[in-house]
Amino acid sequence: MIEESVIREVKERLDIVEVIGDFVSLKRSGSSYKALSPFTNEKTPSFFVSPSKQIFKCFSTGKGGDAIEFLKEVEGMTYIDAIKYLGEKYGVEINESTSGYEQNNDKESLLILINKSKDFFIENLKTDEGKNIALTYFNHRNISVDMIKKFELGYSIDKWDSLYKFLIKNQFSDDNIIKAGLILENNNKKYDRFRNRVIFPIHNLSGKTIAFGARILTEDKKQPKYINSPETSLYIKSNILYGLYQSKYEIRKLDNCFLVEGYTDVISLFQIGIENVVASSGTSLTTNQIKLISRYTKNITILFDGDKAGVAASLRGMDLILENDMNVEIVSFPEGDDPDSYSKKVGKDKFQEFIDGNKTDLITFKVNLLQENEDNPVKKSEMIYDIVRSISKIPNSIKRSLFLKEASNSLEINEQALISEMNKLLLGQGNKTVRSNQIIVNNEKESPREDSINSAIDFYERECIRMLVNYGTSDFEVIGLDRKTFIDYFLKEIQDIEFENKNYLKIIEVFKSEYKKDKVIDINYFLSGDFVDIKDDIIDLSSNRYEISKQWKNKFNIHVSEESDSLKKTTYTNILRLKFRLIRKMIKDNLQNLDKSDKHSIDEDVIKLHNKLKSAEVDIAKELGNVTSV
Ligand code: GTP
Ligand code: MN
Repeated sequence: MIEESVIREVKERLDIVEVIGDFVSLKRSGSSYKALSPFTNEKTPSFFVSPSKQIFKCFSTGKGGDAIEFLKEVEGMTYIDAIKYLGEKYGVEINESTSGYEQNNDKESLLILINKSKDFFIENLKTDEGKNIALTYFNHRNISVDMIKKFELGYSIDKWDSLYKFLIKNQFSDDNIIKAGLILENNNKKYDRFRNRVIFPIHNLSGKTIAFGARILTEDKKQPKYINSPETSLYIKSNILYGLYQSKYEIRKLDNCFLVEGYTDVISLFQIGIENVVASSGTSLTTNQIKLISRYTKNITILFDGDKAGVAASLRGMDLILENDMNVEIVSFPEGDDPDSYSKKVGKDKFQEFIDGNKTDLITFKVNLLQENEDNPVKKSEMIYDIVRSISKIPNSIKRSLFLKEASNSLEINEQALISEMNKLLLGQGNKTVRSNQIIVNNEKESPREDSINSAIDFYERECIRMLVNYGTSDFEVIGLDRKTFIDYFLKEIQDIEFENKNYLKIIEVFKSEYKKDKVIDINYFLSGDFVDIKDDIIDLSSNRYEISKQWKNKFNIHVSEESDSLKKTTYTNILRLKFRLIRKMIKDNLQNLDKSDKHSIDEDVIKLHNKLKSAEVDIAKELGNVTSV
C-alpha cells in the first residue's frame, strides 16, 4: 500500500503534458495539445491532452483519463508502478508503509476511551487488591516504580466487569467499548477482556495509549501468558513497535536500535539505563516496523533469547531489514536467558560488554548456523543458498559485493560462483523496482506489451524518416558561416540505431550516398528515379497529411537558427523516443535469451548486457525528461 497522502502529492506535482510528452510527440493546439493516437495507426491526430484539466482523450478509440491512466493504457504499467514511476520522475519519495492515519471522529473517540481505560488500570494499582497483587508482582520481578510510571503499567481487577462498569459510568457507548476491544460478549453478557492481569499499555508515537498487552500473574499453563487488544482502527499490530515512543530520541542519538522480543525486555533495559530499545512483541518483524525504525536510525541490533526456537523464525525478519537498506547485527543470549533476565543478572556495564563482544553481522551469523550443519550436505547447500539470498536483498550494490566477498571467504566457496548464484536471484525478483545500478528486472506486467513496443518503434521510425525525407538536404543549423544540413545532424544521431523497416533503411542509404554530391533530394528525386519499392513510403511520408510537416514546411525555408531550434528539438526528441523503445525491446529480447538458457548456468553475458541496456534506458529517459520538459 502506498499512503494516500503520497499519491496525492504525486498527483499534485505531475504535469500530464510532461508525462505524456515522454512517450508521444505533442503539439500545441489552442489551449490543449494534440498528437497522433498512440493507440492506433492513424494519420490525423485525434489524441488530445488538456493541461488545464490534466486529462487526455483519444477520439479514435474513446480512451481517456489522467496521467496514471495513460501510463496504464499505453505503457502497460500497474497503478502502483505508475505511481512509483511518477514518484521518481517528480522526486516524491514513495514509502510503501501505511503508518500514520487520519484522525477522524471515530478514532478520536476510541483514543479517549482507551486512554481513560489506561488511567483506570493505573488507578487500580492504588487499591488494596492492586497493591497486594500487582505491585507485589512488579516488585518480585524487580520492576522499579520509575518504570511503572514511565511505561504507565497498570492492573486489571479480578472481576468480570470492573472496566465495563467504569466505562459505562463515564458515558461511553457499548458500541465504542466493543470497538476498542476491551469488552467481550457471550450470550448477551458483556465482560472485561482483561481480568486479573498486569497491564502493559502500548503507545503510539505521540505517547497516547492505543492498545494493551496483559500478563497473567500465575504460572497457570491453561491460560495464555499474554493476551493483547485485538486490532482496531488505532492499533495495527504490524505498524507498531512496543517502546518506540519512549526510546525514539535515544535511538536517534545513539544511531542504533536494539530489537527485543518482549515487553519486559524493553522495561528491564530501560531500568538499567539502556534506552534505545523496542520490542516486536512476539510477532515477526514487518516491513512497516522496519520503516518506523528507519526514521531514527539505519542500524538495528537484534537481541535474541537464549532459546534456539526464536532464531529460525527471525531469519526472515533479518532479510527484511537488509531489503530496506538497513544494517543488522545479531546478539544471541546464553541458553535460558533473555535480555530481561540477563540484564538483571549482570547490570548495565557487563550487559553492554556482552553485546559488544557477541554481536555479529547477519552473514557471519548465518555462516555460524551453517557450520552447525556442516555434516549435512543438503542442509548445507540450502543454507548457502539462503545466505546468498540474504545478500541479494541488499539494495546497495557496493554493500552486496562486500558481503559476497566475506561470505566467499568464510564459506570457502569461489566468489564467482556466489556472484552468479546471486545474479540468478536478482534476475528472478519479479516485482522489484528497477534501479539503474541493479540487476533487477521488471516483470511481465511492468513491461509494455510486445505489440505496443513494436508499434511504437514503427511509429517513431516513421517519424524520424519523415523528418529526413522532408528536411534532409536543407539547412538545419546555420551559425555564422558554418552551415550544417539536416542530414549531417541526423546521420550522426542515428549512427547507433538499426532501423527495422527495410524501406526506411533504404531511404537512409539513398541520403547517405547521394547527399555529398550536393544534390537536392526531395520527393521529385525519389519519384523520378528508380525507387519502385520505396515510392509509396516517400509519398506517404512527405504528404501534407501530417500536420507537423505542414508547420515545419513554412518554417523550413527560413534558416533554422539558434533562437528557433524547434526543428532540432523535434528531431532530437523523435530519435530519442525511437532509441528509448529500441532499448526496451532489446531488454526484453535479452531476457528471453535468459528464459531459454539453463537456469543453473546463467549466462554472464546476458546479465552484463542487461545492466548496460538498463543504464542506457535510464540515460535516455533522463535525456527525454530534459528535452521535453523545456
Ligand atoms: P515474561 O515471561 O513476562 O518475562 O515475558 P517475556 O517478555 O520474557 O515473554 P516471552 O519471551 O515468552 O514472549 C515475548 C513476547 O511474546 C511477549 O512480550 C508477548 O508480547 C508475546 N507473548 C508471549 N506469550 C504470549 C502468549 O501466550 N500470547 C500472546 N498473544 N503473546 C505472547
Ligand atoms: Mn522474560
